[in-house]
Amino acid sequence: MRKDVQQTLVLIKPDALKNSLTGYVLSQLSEYHTSLIFAATKVVKVTKLLAEAHYAEHVGKVFFPSLLEMITGHLHYPNDSDKQRVIAIIYEGPGAIAKVREVCGPTNPHVARDEKPGSIRSLGTVVPIFDESGKMVGDRMDNLIHASANPEDAEREIKLWFKPNDMPPAKRAFTTGHSEEHYYFRPGKLSTSYMPGSICLLAPGDVAWKSDLEVLQASIEGKPTAYSLEAAVAKYLLNREMAENW
Ligand code: RTP
Ligand code: MG
Repeated sequence: MRKDVQQTLVLIKPDALKNSLTGYVLSQLSEYHTSLIFAATKVVKVTKLLAEAHYAEHVGKVFFPSLLEMITGHLHYPNDSDKQRVIAIIYEGPGAIAKVREVCGPTNPHVARDEKPGSIRSLGTVVPIFDESGKMVGDRMDNLIHASANPEDAEREIKLWFKPNDMPPAKRAFTTGHSEEHYYFRPGKLSTSYMPGSICLLAPGDVAWKSDLEVLQASIEGKPTAYSLEAAVAKYLLNREMAENW
């Protein structure tokens, strides 16, 4: 990939799916409008593990629990688990991160309507959050779309949601390596040998993000890791029936 070419992660969130705005969002982001192209795309049933890793920077904030409920689809499809999903897309092209953020508009849909009418998020809603006593404690923003904010976030998020094999080799923007081990995972535990109830993440020879391989290896050796084990394994657990509630 050329140096001036960037990639960015877009998530079409459950509120957009529920309101049949997928086509609209794709059209706003189309190559015709943005000069950006698809590098990869997939439909994902978001696990708690992935949601927590994705929104790690918001842990402890008043809206964090509702953010998890929202991105996992539980809020918009409480009784329809087969519709709980997100569309994840990597867009690629010069200035991709800023271009997509521009089309999205401000985080808060009310602000978007004021300051950037016509942006995607100007079609979103703001929903009050109440505590157990019924007191309003904050807002939830149903803003239809997620877009990476800067190059560091884009790399972290793309590697969090996608495996190298989810895209053609020419679209892999980050360093990969080959696993030298079998890696198995079940909640809270990683092993190089099979554990009952575990999922095999990688086998020897499989391609993976180099940074993930380093996290897996360090975890096995009980050494400090550059990011959480959950962030390294989450993508391997997506759309696996056994891991749906992990
Ligand atoms: P995103 O990550 O979804 O593209 O949005 P963003 O960069 O514009 O905003 P960020 O600060 O990263 O927040 C992530 C998501 O958390 C919800 N949020 N609620 N009530 C609040 O004050 C608040 N702040 C953020 C929004 O759903 C936002 O998209
Ligand atoms: Mg953000």
